[in-house]
Amino acid sequence: MDNLKGKTAVITGAARGIGLAIARKLASAGCNVVLSDILQQGVDDAASDIKKNGVEALAVRTDVSSLADAEKLVTATLEKFGRIDILVNNAGITRDNLIMKMDEKEWDAVIAVNLKGTFNCIKAAIRPMMKQRSGKIINLASIVGLIGNAGQANYSASKAGIIGLTKSTAKELGSRNIQVNAIAPGFIATEMTENLPQNAKDAFLNNIPLKRAGQVDDVANIVLFLASELSDYVTGQVINVDGGMVM
Ligand SMILES: NC(=O)c1ccc[n+]([C@@H]2O[C@H](COP(=O)([O-])OP(=O)(O)OC[C@H]3O[C@@H](n4cnc5c(N)ncnc54)[C@H](O)[C@@H]3O)[C@@H](O)[C@H]2O)c1
Repeated sequence: MDNLKGKTAVITGAARGIGLAIARKLASAGCNVVLSDILQQGVDDAASDIKKNGVEALAVRTDVSSLADAEKLVTATLEKFGRIDILVNNAGITRDNLIMKMDEKEWDAVIAVNLKGTFNCIKAAIRPMMKQRSGKIINLASIVGLIGNAGQANYSASKAGIIGLTKSTAKELGSRNIQVNAIAPGFIATEMTENLPQNAKDAFLNNIPLKRAGQVDDVANIVLFLASELSDYVTGQVINVDGGMVM
C-alpha cells in the first residue's frame, strides 16, 4: 500500500509501544515519518530501522510538555521535508494513585505531558497545515477519558481534556480542510500496561467482548485510516479501539 506516498507524518512518543507501531504503519504506506520522543536513543534506532523500507525517517528528541520543544520539532520537520501533513499526538504517561493519595506532582506531570503536550504540538503544527490547506491531526485519548477509572483521576482527566481539545480544534480548523480526530484505546499490550497488577489485567480482560487484549497494530490500523484520504469527511470524532469494552 502506498496511499501516503510523498506525505510527511510527525509522531510523538514514537520510541516504543503504540507510537512506534504507528510510525511503522504509516511508513509502510509510503509516508515519510518524523519520530519524536523524550528517549533519544529509542527514536534514533527506530528511524534507522524504518529507513531500510525505502522511506525517509527523521528522529527528533522532544519533550512534548515544552512548547519550545514542540516548535523545534515542527521546524526540524519543515527543514527536512518542507511540509507536515499528519500529526499524531501519542506521547503519554501515567502516574496512577487514588485521589486521596495523589500528590500535586503526579497530577501536574500527567496533565503536562498528555494534555498540554497535545496542545503544544497542535499549536506548533497548525500554521503550516493552514497554509497548505490540508492536514490530519490524530490525538491518542483513552476509554478512561470517557468512562473514568479508579486510580487514574489525573490520567482520565487528561484524556477527557484531549477529547474536548479534539472537538474544539476540529470546529476551528474544518474550514481549512484540517481533520482532527481522537482514538480511544482500551487495554492494549504495551510497556504502559505490562506493569498493572494481575487482578487489574483480569478485570480488563473480563470486560472485553472480543476476549483479548488489543495489539499495537489494532490502534495503528485506525491511525492509518484517519491519516489517509479515506477519512476526509470525518472530523471531531472519537473512535474507540477497545474490543467492544465501551459501547
Ligand atoms: N497501552 C494502552 O492500553 C493504552 C490505552 C489507552 C490509551 N493509551 C495511550 O496511547 C499512547 C501510547 O501508549 P503506550 O501504551 O504505547 O505507552 P508507552 O509508555 O509504551 O509509550 C509512550 C511513549 O511516550 C514517550 N514519552 C513519555 N513522556 C514524553 C514526553 N514528555 N515527550 C515525548 N515523549 C514522551 C515515552 O518515552 C514512550 O516512548 C499514550 O498516549 C497512552 O496514554 C494507551
